[in-house]
Amino acid sequence: MALIEVKKVLTKDLNKITTLEKKIFKENAFSKELIEKLIMKNLFFLKLEISKVKNKIIGFIIALKDQNKNVSIINFLIDPKFQNKGYGSYLLQYTIEKIKKLNNIKKITLNVQLSNSIAICLYEKFNFKRNPTILENYYQSGESAYLMELEINSRLTKTYK
Ligand SMILES: CC(C)(COP(=O)(O)OP(=O)(O)OC[C@H]1O[C@@H](n2cnc3c(N)ncnc32)[C@H](O)[C@@H]1OP(=O)(O)O)[C@@H](O)C(=O)NCCC(=O)NCCS
Repeated sequence: MALIEVKKVLTKDLNKITTLEKKIFKENAFSKELIEKLIMKNLFFLKLEISKVKNKIIGFIIALKDQNKNVSIINFLIDPKFQNKGYGSYLLQYTIEKIKKLNNIKKITLNVQLSNSIAICLYEKFNFKRNPTILENYYQSGESAYLMELEINSRLTKTYK
C-alpha cells in the first residue's frame, strides 16, 4: 500500500469529489449541490489521499450523526484504479475509530445495494450485521438495499490490519 493520508474534505475538493461520485454511482450519485452542503456541515467527510501525488484523492467517506445516537455512513467509495488494495478497509477502519471516540454513539448504520457483494463482504469483515428486511426501490435506479448495522460497543468489532 502506498503512503496515504486521511484528511477532511474541503470546499476546494468539491469538483474532484463530484467527478468521482458520478463516475462510480452514475444515476445514483449525489448531486454537486448536495455534496457541497455536506462539506459545509462539520461532520465526517473524509478523503483518502496518496501522499506522493499531491492532492490525489483516491476515495472518500461521509458519515452523519442523527438524533438517536446513531451515525450513518451515507457515502463511501474508492476510485476503481485503487480498489482491492486495502484502501477501503483502511478508510472504513479509520472512520469507525473516529466515530467510537464520539460520546454516546450506539450504532453505525448504512445501506448497500443487494447486488454489491464486495461492499457487503467488506462491511461484514468489520462486523456489520445485515438486517433481513429489504428496502425495496431504495435507490434512484430502482435497486433495493439492505440496511447494515454495527453495534459500537460490541467487543467483537474487528480491527483490520
Ligand atoms: C466497496 C469499496 C469501497 C471497497 O474498497 P476497496 O479499497 O476495494 O476495499 P479493500 O481493498 O479494502 O477490500 C475489501 C474487501 O473487498 C474484497 N474486494 C475488493 N475488491 C474486490 C474485487 N474487485 N473483487 C473481489 N473482491 C474484492 C476484498 O476481498 C477485500 O476483502 P479481503 O480483506 O478479503 O481482501 C470499493 O469497492 C468501491 O468503491 N466500490 C464502489 C462504490 C461502493 O460500492 N461503495 C459502497 C456503497 S455501500
